[in-house]
Amino acid sequence: MYISDLIAVSVATLSSAAVVGTDLYCQADAPERAVLYCRANIALNSEDLERLRQRGITKLYISSEGRREYQKHLRDVASGSGSNSVTMAQRSAALNEVVLAVLEESFVKGDTSDTVETTLEMSQLATRLLTDGDFATGDLFRVLHHDYATFTHSANVAYYLGILATALGYTKKEVEEIVAGGLLHDLGKLKVDEKILAKPGKLDDAEFELIKKHPRDGFSQLADRKDLTIGQLMMVYQHHEKIDGRGYPVGCVSNEIHPWAKMCAVVDIYEAVTSQRPYRKPMPWQQACELLKRESGTSLEKEIVECWTSIIKNTMQP
Ligand SMILES: [Fe+2]
Repeated sequence: MYISDLIAVSVATLSSAAVVGTDLYCQADAPERAVLYCRANIALNSEDLERLRQRGITKLYISSEGRREYQKHLRDVASGSGSNSVTMAQRSAALNEVVLAVLEESFVKGDTSDTVETTLEMSQLATRLLTDGDFATGDLFRVLHHDYATFTHSANVAYYLGILATALGYTKKEVEEIVAGGLLHDLGKLKVDEKILAKPGKLDDAEFELIKKHPRDGFSQLADRKDLTIGQLMMVYQHHEKIDGRGYPVGCVSNEIHPWAKMCAVVDIYEAVTSQRPYRKPMPWQQACELLKRESGTSLEKEIVECWTSIIKNTMQP
């Protein structure tokens, strides 16, 4: 069996005593080859996981036919229902892996109904973890990816929003809606040419005008949905508005911007600058917090910036 025919899965998402439901393969001694490691119906035990850790193996592999079963396993681990021995760190790793996989699949498919249904399901799963009393932001932050793909950015923004909304005292139901809004906030960007999104250096005026269309495009795609709230739609439409009126697409001012869109604006900037882009390195968290503070009270809402930067400081400081 060749590794190139298989899908890599993270060992961090496997918990002892849980049956994954699809065969697991590991790298063979021969280059590019994989051998069967564990049959679909057999549960790994804690000694197996420890042995993998000691050998420095962080990835195993599944066949593409086993993708659905593996995603089901990830949902069980993320929700904490798979096994009693599952840790919060494993739940965070499983959540991120399943959210990224299903979001990418749905964004590529380009079917709005499918994307909305997927995001509503994922926001429920994410909120269950983010609002759990034992949840630690550090566990989730350690497993996040920081590339420039729209689905990665959307997932990170959604988790950040869930953490921020919980800290600001929103109810669990509101947190779930806000997380779903975060997953959808850049939907309109899927229409923008990848060459523009990944362009190294400054965008010219025409390219920037194209990018600036994405809140309006995302909003028009979703506006008729009966399963989305006004707050969620405003997150899509207004997440690039600034409280001093210098934002887009409309240029509304503070009291015209929905509070959830103001929250989305703060974490959207934080996620964008701390992630890898084809044309620049990620900004360190301290610098990103400084940047937000400089915009605080002029383009970003002060209370939200304060809450978010203190969450980041408490999570990142040793
Ligand atoms: Fe955006």
